[in-house]
Amino acid sequence: MTKIETKKITKAVIPAAGLGTRMLPISRAVPKEMLPIVDRPAISYLVDEACDSGITDILIITARGKESIEDYYDYTLEYEQKLRAAGKESELEVMRSVCKKANIYFLRQHEAKGLGHAVGCAKGFTGEEPFVVLYGDDVIISKTPVCKQLMNAYDEYGLASVGVQTVPVELVVKYCTLKTEPLKDNWYKLHTMIEKPKPEQIMEPHFSILGRALLTPEIYGFIADLKPGAGGELQLTDAMKVLAETQGMTAIDFEGKRYDMGSKLGFLMANVEQGLLHPELRNEFKNFLKTVMKI
Ligand code: UTP
Repeated sequence: MTKIETKKITKAVIPAAGLGTRMLPISRAVPKEMLPIVDRPAISYLVDEACDSGITDILIITARGKESIEDYYDYTLEYEQKLRAAGKESELEVMRSVCKKANIYFLRQHEAKGLGHAVGCAKGFTGEEPFVVLYGDDVIISKTPVCKQLMNAYDEYGLASVGVQTVPVELVVKYCTLKTEPLKDNWYKLHTMIEKPKPEQIMEPHFSILGRALLTPEIYGFIADLKPGAGGELQLTDAMKVLAETQGMTAIDFEGKRYDMGSKLGFLMANVEQGLLHPELRNEFKNFLKTVMKI
């Protein structure tokens, strides 16, 4: 493929305004993006991934009832007073560093019209620059941040990109199916995609997009043309399908373990696996699990 001129990517968008119906009843009061993995909210893993990829400016798309996301990225003066009084200055710095990782902006999506609509809200923020999108409920633990893995492919080809992995066929129908062609290693040319395909539409291999995209500003024109798709929502996949078919895109079979924090099973898996890796908790937690599992 011929290389297109690239720009430095410094902006990320995290859509976190969805209703989270799969996580009811907790999502009535707690945004799924704020559900913990051990002691940190899911969204903080995404912010860290973006920052570790060189992103300096992050827009979080929020909604009514999701104010706790903003609070998490603010100073916590009451805790700070306590820490200062106890002479724990270093802990204080750690607390503040959470807010200093990047410039974090918030914008409300007034109605949960779908992921495509949520990303469309970011147009004023990203302007004419390419940007990465981290779906707010998809936490991915990897050696190289997945955003960075997509950026590497962008640097090579100058094309928009999505992060993919093979998933069981019963998940492909819930997510999306992709037509790809190998480029090199784990990089593929992406020809087209179908959101929530019917079983007869599923393409091989069983790749689905798992929570990461690197988009170019042309996406906004395709989002503006979107009609309600699967579930009556404005689907980002439908806009990316046109982007792939007209401008070309790549698909990166990324290295990393993904947890769907928008599903009850994904939430439990994340906590068990990361709990078993937690330096302070792992031994006690492992013993506890052994007793529970009677192994
Ligand atoms: P999902 O489709 O997983 O979120 O979108 P959802 O609609 O909340 O899910 P369910 O089916 O009701 O459980 C992936 C990400 O996009 C955000 C979500 O918050 C999630 O982080 N999103 C989704 C928006 O920001 N706005 C929307 O209108 C839809």
